[in-house]
Amino acid sequence: MGDLKEGLADALEGARQRSLGLLDPLSEADQLAQHSPLMSPLVWDLAHVGHYEELWLLRAVARTRPIDPAHDDIYDAFKHVRKERARLPILGPAEARRHIAMVRGRVLDVLDKVELDPAVPLLSEGFVYGMVAQHEHQHDETMLATLSLMEGEGYRPAAEPPPPGHPVTPAEVRVDGGTFTMGTDLEAWAYDNERPAHGIDLAPFWIDTTPVTNAAYQAFIAAGGYDDRRFWSEAGWAHRTKARLVAPQFWRPEGGGAWSRLRYGYREQLVADEPVMHVCFFEAEAYARWAGKRLPTEAEWEKAASIEPGSGRKRRYPWGDEPPTEAHANLGQRHFRPAPAGAYPAGVSPWGCHQMIGDVWEWTSSSFDAYPGFAWFPYPEYSQVFFGGDYRVLRGGSWATQPGAIRATFRNWDYPIRRQIFSGFRCARDA
Ligand SMILES: [Fe+2]
Repeated sequence: MGDLKEGLADALEGARQRSLGLLDPLSEADQLAQHSPLMSPLVWDLAHVGHYEELWLLRAVARTRPIDPAHDDIYDAFKHVRKERARLPILGPAEARRHIAMVRGRVLDVLDKVELDPAVPLLSEGFVYGMVAQHEHQHDETMLATLSLMEGEGYRPAAEPPPPGHPVTPAEVRVDGGTFTMGTDLEAWAYDNERPAHGIDLAPFWIDTTPVTNAAYQAFIAAGGYDDRRFWSEAGWAHRTKARLVAPQFWRPEGGGAWSRLRYGYREQLVADEPVMHVCFFEAEAYARWAGKRLPTEAEWEKAASIEPGSGRKRRYPWGDEPPTEAHANLGQRHFRPAPAGAYPAGVSPWGCHQMIGDVWEWTSSSFDAYPGFAWFPYPEYSQVFFGGDYRVLRGGSWATQPGAIRATFRNWDYPIRRQIFSGFRCARDA
């Protein structure tokens, strides 16, 4: 195999090791259980990634016949909402592992022989292999969210603590106005929704140099932010009232204004300078209004994360073009938690923003829509069917995102009420 093919095989293998590494410590019952109506049984995710791999790397690439036609229904995310999936005739933990290993064996045989023809968009630079590896890593992040919802003893992972934080000054920076290039035509493994690259004209704006921390968020709670309607949008207030929101998910009051939080089965004191996590869009929006600010648009976020002042050159990541290392960003579940503000000085953006990649996904004020000139690829169900819906864009990845599945142009989206994801935010304001 050539270097490219070896790299693709390694990417697939890395994703698989990660998936199995997450699930192998669990009992069969915990792999089969529905830990939350918002999430799939973990073993559904596992077999689903194998089914997706079969669809794309066997059927689409090598024109093979379905291995088990029933899987086209059971493992189609559009046919069954998450809360239904525990009632489907899904493969058990051992069967699922056997099945996905069999698929993988056939995939590697095909990869050995296939010509990665640059004239075929699906195969050029191994795009479809990158798509499948990223898909598995995205499900691994989803599984990490499921694991954080497990009751009882919880998941209790062993992980090294993150590097220490450092005070970051100034607290916000001014980003110049003008036209910049949003999205990408150059990233080989970018999804359709990140394309095409296009010019966007922005007014100058201010943006926070760090994500909003637990300490800052506690001040919002202590000031009565959850009970003051002025800070909430109409939809946000309705949701806050119906869901009885009083604090981020997993927080518990400990008296005297103190809070603890539950993390994978451990109850611990809040770390003051850690980015706040598990807030929904409406909470982020209310905090920003209370602070006299607003959420950034996704264009503002991307400019602050990737455009060099002066030259206007676009970087792949805030620190430059080289792939993320441990020094740049908190990714790949290395620490199983966000790192404190200022922990990654080597990862700072050209404008001085810290931790734009990794730690927590950052809510933006933008709804999820197509870029001008968008064309779905390789299938409309990846992005197109979600455009124009009630989704908000999140940027930058979290501590649970794999380094190969994030970049400055990457767009994630979710409902504004969701907070089981590893979501935080930073604020912006008009200049
Ligand atoms: Fe999926």
